[in-house]
Amino acid sequence: MSVHLLPDALVANLPKSVIIFGCGYIGTALAEVLLAAGVRVGALTRNVQKATRLRELGVHEVIVADLDSDAWHGQFTGAYESVVNCVSSAGGGIDGYRKSYLEGQRSILKWAKGRGIQSYLYTSSTSVYPQDGGVRVDETADTADAPLTGQVLCESERLLADAADTFGAWYVLRLAGIYGPRRHYLLDLLRAGESVIPGVGDYFLNLIHRDDVVTAICTALTCHPSSKSGIYNVSDDQPASKAELVAWLAKQLGQVPPLFDPEHVSPRLQRRGGRMPSRQISSSKFRETFRWSPQYEDFRAGYRDLLGIKKA
Ligand SMILES: NC(=O)c1ccc[n+]([C@@H]2O[C@H](COP(=O)([O-])OP(=O)(O)OC[C@H]3O[C@@H](n4cnc5c(N)ncnc54)[C@H](OP(=O)(O)O)[C@@H]3O)[C@@H](O)[C@H]2O)c1
Repeated sequence: MSVHLLPDALVANLPKSVIIFGCGYIGTALAEVLLAAGVRVGALTRNVQKATRLRELGVHEVIVADLDSDAWHGQFTGAYESVVNCVSSAGGGIDGYRKSYLEGQRSILKWAKGRGIQSYLYTSSTSVYPQDGGVRVDETADTADAPLTGQVLCESERLLADAADTFGAWYVLRLAGIYGPRRHYLLDLLRAGESVIPGVGDYFLNLIHRDDVVTAICTALTCHPSSKSGIYNVSDDQPASKAELVAWLAKQLGQVPPLFDPEHVSPRLQRRGGRMPSRQISSSKFRETFRWSPQYEDFRAGYRDLLGIKKA
């Protein structure tokens, strides 16, 4: 990750200090970019190896703790302008969702109260939307019928919205499916020579490259006015069917496109009726409000980069 990812104007307006909760794929990439931009970064992780890595990167304060307890509350000594909560459930089914997303959010909000936090950003997911059938989905879409996991995320979003008065600004970014370096499951399957892909291919994937998630977070963090507070979808706005993506990848690798096997689905998918919902996520609101656009405008641009292919 490189600070050159961020335009100079953005670097100049970043908060002076940011605390990141949940240092996985996104949290660590964000920490790297912020550190390179001269921001003081604090981080909470529950993983000792990650803590070592974060200290090596130069993160100023690293606490190893389970987010959902209050035991870590007294351990951070620095003051922070902004909070980024990007924990994931990291497995554990619905109980893992409640523990990490809901109790985690509750714990951070309790800690953050009265600390003069300017902005609080929470990475939620487009999985809160129950819509199907290929429809276009923006932030006004009803989430009442969200799957159980999506309901937990919505509840966690509401906790933040209800605490709005505590912060200068708050943002919920509902992220589409994240891909990027070391995270490209379908490419891995093809490279392994798989000729059959589990499940079906006739539904829309909504994607966002890791680096574009990082720039979206940084962009929101530079905007403190509470008038911009709210819920935003963040995707590349170029939904494509899974079959289209797989066929394109196969072509780049000089392979025959694999077949899909609808009979072979994961237990998670089986619980969702054997297929993922198909909808086209719109992130116009985020683009227009923050004048942001992704560096990787669609999956082709992102995967070309991952494959080391120069654009013709
Ligand atoms: N991945 C996607 O495609 C996707 C799509 C939409 C939205 N999102 C959202 O985007 C955000 C970032 O995702 P990601 O891909 O970076 O996730 P990730 O790689 O799984 O990282 C999340 C981190 O949260 C930590 N964590 C989970 N529960 C915790 C707890 N109770 N206490 C302390 N740390 C805890 C995990 O720690 P351990 O390493 O110790 O488990 C992990 O390092 C998440 O909020 C996720 O819900 C992701």
